[in-house]
Amino acid sequence: MRQCLALEPDEVAPLQLEQPLPKPDLRPDRPAAEPGLGDPVLSLAQVGKTFADGTVALQDLSLEVRAGEFLSLLGPSGCGKSTALRLIAGLLTPSAGEIARPRLAERGEIGFVFQDATLMPWATAFDNVYLPLRLQGLRRRAAEAPVLAALARVGLAEFAGSYPRQLSGGMKMRVAIARALITEPRLLLLDEPFAALDEITRLKLNQDLLDLWQAQRFTVIFVTHSVYESVYLSSRIAVMAPRPGRIVAELPIPAAYPRSEEFRTSAPYNQLCRLTQAALRRALGDA
Ligand SMILES: Nc1ncnc2c1ncn2[C@@H]1O[C@H](COP(=O)(O)OP(=O)(O)OP(=O)(O)O)[C@@H](O)[C@H]1O
Ligand SMILES: [Mg+2]
Repeated sequence: MRQCLALEPDEVAPLQLEQPLPKPDLRPDRPAAEPGLGDPVLSLAQVGKTFADGTVALQDLSLEVRAGEFLSLLGPSGCGKSTALRLIAGLLTPSAGEIARPRLAERGEIGFVFQDATLMPWATAFDNVYLPLRLQGLRRRAAEAPVLAALARVGLAEFAGSYPRQLSGGMKMRVAIARALITEPRLLLLDEPFAALDEITRLKLNQDLLDLWQAQRFTVIFVTHSVYESVYLSSRIAVMAPRPGRIVAELPIPAAYPRSEEFRTSAPYNQLCRLTQAALRRALGDA
């Protein structure tokens, strides 16, 4: 059964750090959308995906995403997070249900960052970031300013001429993020982008991603299995359960942005992590 762990509407206002977190209220019929957000950019209605070998990766997955949200898909390995993201990106077709992408009609409106940076090893950071613009027919000279600006935004202004083998794991991921953002997509999909990185790099990239999101106001769907990462980043978390993959709970994260180390060490953050952890445990129990 899908639960929507919704807080009262007047409790969705930005939290003060000292304010105690209100108890969640389990209401399965409550719509997921939060007040104050933009128009829907994505809607999945009872989507299913069965692979050719008969694996039912997803069943009855319904989800609405609004412009400006930072939504995390949180769930254990094998629950269908990557499959859901690929369906959303149009890289896979659903076996059942409907996916609507209002306002995402044009090419380049969706950016995708994979778990490993998937850079072209024979191309420089510049050329890796330039690729989506090249595919759109933009000449190298015309692309120079936007590509260098995108590299600067992810802190790699000095590394335009470096090859992937000359970059650290975190730097490669920054190039992948710059490449995904170069077409100024409305929707950015990230599939466990920081899972392979050390803790310090991961925290830094979390912060930098939030800063980019706040500056450029794209919509994010972020796949993770980390409760702590999802609570720190998200305005909403959809908890998934396996066999078959589905969304079993939704939690708004009603803490104000910008978020900082102060939030990460605050009592409300800890409380939100506990709530999310409990929802995940229930999801596993349900499975
Ligand atoms: N191409 C495929 N053919 C058959 N089964 C697949 C295929 N891709 C994924 N699956 C299966 O679908 C289920 C969901 O896989 P998916 O990769 O979406 O999970 P996930 O939640 O992303 O896991 P992880 O956290 O380990 O990345 C798994 O049982 C997986 O084995
Ligand atoms: Mg995956």
